[in-house]
Amino acid sequence: MPKLQGFEFWSRTLRGARHVVAPMVDQSELAWRLLSRRHGAQLCYTPMLHAQVFVRDANYRKENLYCEVCPEDRPLIVQFCANDPEVFVQAALLAQDYCDAIDLNLGCPQMIAKRGHYGAFLQDEWDLLQRMILLAHEKLSVPVTCKIRVFPEIDKTVRYAQMLEKAGCQLLTVHGRTKEQKGPLSGAASWEHIKAVRKAVAIPVFANGNIQCLQDVERCLRDTGVQGVMSAEGNLHNPALFEGRSPAVWELAEEYLDIVREHPCPLSYVRAHLFKLWHHTLQVHQQLREELAKVKTLEGIAAVSQELKLRCQEEISRQEGAKPTGDLPFHWICQPYVRPGPREGSKEKSGARSKRALEEEECGTEILSKNKQKKQLRNPHKTFDPSLKPKYAKCDQCGNPKGNRCVFSLCRGCCKKRASKETADCPGHGLLFKTKLEKSLAWKEAQPELQEPQQAAPGTPGGFSEVMGSALA
Ligand SMILES: Cc1cc2nc3c(=O)[nH]c(=O)nc-3n(C[C@H](O)[C@H](O)[C@H](O)COP(=O)(O)O)c2cc1C
Repeated sequence: MPKLQGFEFWSRTLRGARHVVAPMVDQSELAWRLLSRRHGAQLCYTPMLHAQVFVRDANYRKENLYCEVCPEDRPLIVQFCANDPEVFVQAALLAQDYCDAIDLNLGCPQMIAKRGHYGAFLQDEWDLLQRMILLAHEKLSVPVTCKIRVFPEIDKTVRYAQMLEKAGCQLLTVHGRTKEQKGPLSGAASWEHIKAVRKAVAIPVFANGNIQCLQDVERCLRDTGVQGVMSAEGNLHNPALFEGRSPAVWELAEEYLDIVREHPCPLSYVRAHLFKLWHHTLQVHQQLREELAKVKTLEGIAAVSQELKLRCQEEISRQEGAKPTGDLPFHWICQPYVRPGPREGSKEKSGARSKRALEEEECGTEILSKNKQKKQLRNPHKTFDPSLKPKYAKCDQCGNPKGNRCVFSLCRGCCKKRASKETADCPGHGLLFKTKLEKSLAWKEAQPELQEPQQAAPGTPGGFSEVMGSALA
């Protein structure tokens, strides 16, 4: 049977899914997907998988896909990051029997994606992207889809989407932020961009960004005309978002832990999920936050969650009839986390919804690394808030911290290259190319036997500058 394309693929294979759980590294694992599906999600994505590692490593394939499937977990889209058509297709061929489509991640804006040359850092390489999509469209038995970020300009975003469609992309997810909109500068996603793409292509489009509750979903569908709406952080804080419910946190935490017992996953994923679910309560019960960071078993995590539930229930019985104060509902209710706005100096408009400073950024996770957790146990007041780190002036060329006394305003590495090329000094970095050369010349003048012959004989070593050149290199 020929593979279904575009709208037919969306309406038949994806069963017209409107409520979509985003690909999330370390967070959209099987157990979480099953929980989300029980609460209104109609389509899920795997976390982003590395195409090259997937091709090379059988264990990676097993751990991240082959042992991570079950019949209830469909329709499912497997997402890869890749930057080579052959590798992308090889990985996709190894994955296609376990899913309904293969997605190419063109949205990750993180440094790791910059270094790995994938995600949003491919968005200017249209020729490469065309080749990747064309080949995948031709070779795979399932459709290929893309998840993109927008350009600042609407018309360029539209041309980008049309290029991907023309190459064979069968469904497009548009995250309405640019690749620069990350961390404290996330700001609001532009539905205007998404709407323009929706109008300009003939394949289904999913909107991503600014979705915190069911009303947002409905408004987005109405305002942009997209086929479906994808949620990441909203879903992590309230997996019942698509049902339009805000249940008590323990209800979903317990249900999730039960699913994990049946479909185990790394403890770090579970911990990260519970940190997000219990986020607001953990602000009140700080000591349990430390406990949650420390425990080493699933049952240990379940015990902390149970203790949080008991504390909330005690509070509820004490406050019977009380109303929540301020804008937020009670802390034990699943609810979105709205980040504080960008800090001073950013161009963000006040009032725009901003996203949590991204240690948890796209393709990242909120949880502190093991080393940081250990540091925090030794010193509970230690904070890892990036905004509180000492600020370094940056090297003009590479962005590393620049030397305070560098005459070129560069870091040591860039300074050394430049000083060497220009035979200059930078006392700040202890680099004295010019001084050394001058000294050598002076020394040479004082040594008549080393004077350069008027004309070097053919085949003899070059003159002084050649000898010193190699000595100074
Ligand atoms: C923990 C986390 C992990 C993520 N991992 C991925 C990923 O693997 N692939 C991807 O395309 N986007 C990833 N994202 C980005 C989301 O899919 C989504 O595009 C972004 O968070 C904006 O949606 P939101 O406003 O609903 O959070 C991740 C986001 C989070 C919060």
